[in-house]
Amino acid sequence: MLSKTGIPAADYPLDMDLKPFESVGHDWMLITAGNGTNRGDWNTMTASWGSFGVFWGKKTVTCVIRPTRHTYGFVEREPLVTFSFFDSSMKNALQVCGSTSGATTDKAAAAGLTPIALEPGAIGFAESRLDLVCRKLYTQDLDPARFLDDAIEANYPNKDYHRMYVCEILRAYPLSVSGCKKGR
Ligand SMILES: Cc1cc2nc3c(=O)[nH]c(=O)nc-3n(C[C@H](O)[C@H](O)[C@H](O)COP(=O)(O)O)c2cc1C
Repeated sequence: MLSKTGIPAADYPLDMDLKPFESVGHDWMLITAGNGTNRGDWNTMTASWGSFGVFWGKKTVTCVIRPTRHTYGFVEREPLVTFSFFDSSMKNALQVCGSTSGATTDKAAAAGLTPIALEPGAIGFAESRLDLVCRKLYTQDLDPARFLDDAIEANYPNKDYHRMYVCEILRAYPLSVSGCKKGR
């Protein structure tokens, strides 16, 4: 089993490794949930909307997932969610994971990703530069009645309003610390 060396979030320099706008909005991230590394046990999707910050005194990642995504059911089912960040050389993999569905596509094969089990029961990737294993703290469906800018509605021609997840960062798995990568 491939593994990286995890670090408790409190001991990891998140501010040095992640930039709140660039890391999500420009570089994108993968949102992954599952209970095993075999196909069908997990699913992942690309996201470029979300934020880092502090909620209830905890370091958190907040993301939004439309209920129409195959990943949605996995994130709903699992208590843990992984946010994965990649070097720019892997941008094509994120493009694949953001334009195909795990319901019909073997994303690991199509994107060239190797799923790995991360403590305490999450799924990350051998190829990522950083995996953040997080625990769901809070969910809320975006309510169009509360959009204060009418332009926001244009993002929802199918009325598939996102569900927002606030997730506590439990452990960081940086590739740089473990140096453990498949075949290298
Ligand atoms: C750059 C980019 C950013 C995306 N951001 C989000 C997002 O924040 N939330 C979301 O629900 N879908 C987002 N998507 C769309 C999903 O990644 C896409 O629909 C994916 O195919 C879903 O895969 P799945 O059906 O296997 O879950 C994004 C796609 C791309 C390419």
